[in-house]
Amino acid sequence: MKMHLLLVFAFIVVVSAQPQCDPETQYEKNGACCKMCPPGTRMLSSGTCDEPRCEDCGEREYQDKYTTEPKCQRQPYCDPNKNFNQAIHVSKKKATICECKHGFHCSSEQCIICVPHTICPQGKGAKIKGNHSRDTECEVCTDGTFSDVSSWDSECKKWTECGNDYHIKETGTASSDNICGELLCVGRKFVKFFTCRSPVLCGRVFS
Ligand SMILES: *[C@@H]1O[C@H](CO)[C@@H](O)[C@H](O)[C@H]1NC(C)=O
Repeated sequence: MKMHLLLVFAFIVVVSAQPQCDPETQYEKNGACCKMCPPGTRMLSSGTCDEPRCEDCGEREYQDKYTTEPKCQRQPYCDPNKNFNQAIHVSKKKATICECKHGFHCSSEQCIICVPHTICPQGKGAKIKGNHSRDTECEVCTDGTFSDVSSWDSECKKWTECGNDYHIKETGTASSDNICGELLCVGRKFVKFFTCRSPVLCGRVFS
């Protein structure tokens, strides 16, 4: 029993002798808590426990945590030949995330290379427009909508409504708009489907 207590006591002494260092900003050395170098820097060997010597990371380098490391990490290179935008706001405190150029998306989760978005042909529109992380999804234009262009980002548009003084000269399709024809007066009759050169004379739909 006595032996048991002694062991427990010894254990407590050992545990309480360990300094409680902040794991994020400090490290332990010879039983003391020492300061690490802040993000964006690296640690030179000439510093002391209380006053570390820290030097800023170099160009195209970063360090995103408090550190005891003598070296910063290299920033990833955003290669324009792989369809990445050149990185603009580069921080020494975090890794640059390479963005795909407009019109391109990552080919995989790891985003090693960017590939062009799917093009929706005439008659189809972009249901979901592509961005950095996903491809365009096309849909067939239905219910009085159309798309007369091939592109990754244009949606199906509504057919033009031909107004009162107009007739639908040609009904739209998935790939073409309604064509509206004005009425032309010939004598007393209204003749459909021609451009009205003298709007004053026209007005009513020919039946
Ligand atoms: C890309 O688009 C999808 C769906 O529209 C959206 O959920 C996602 O947040 C977008 N991602 C970016 C990086 O804009």
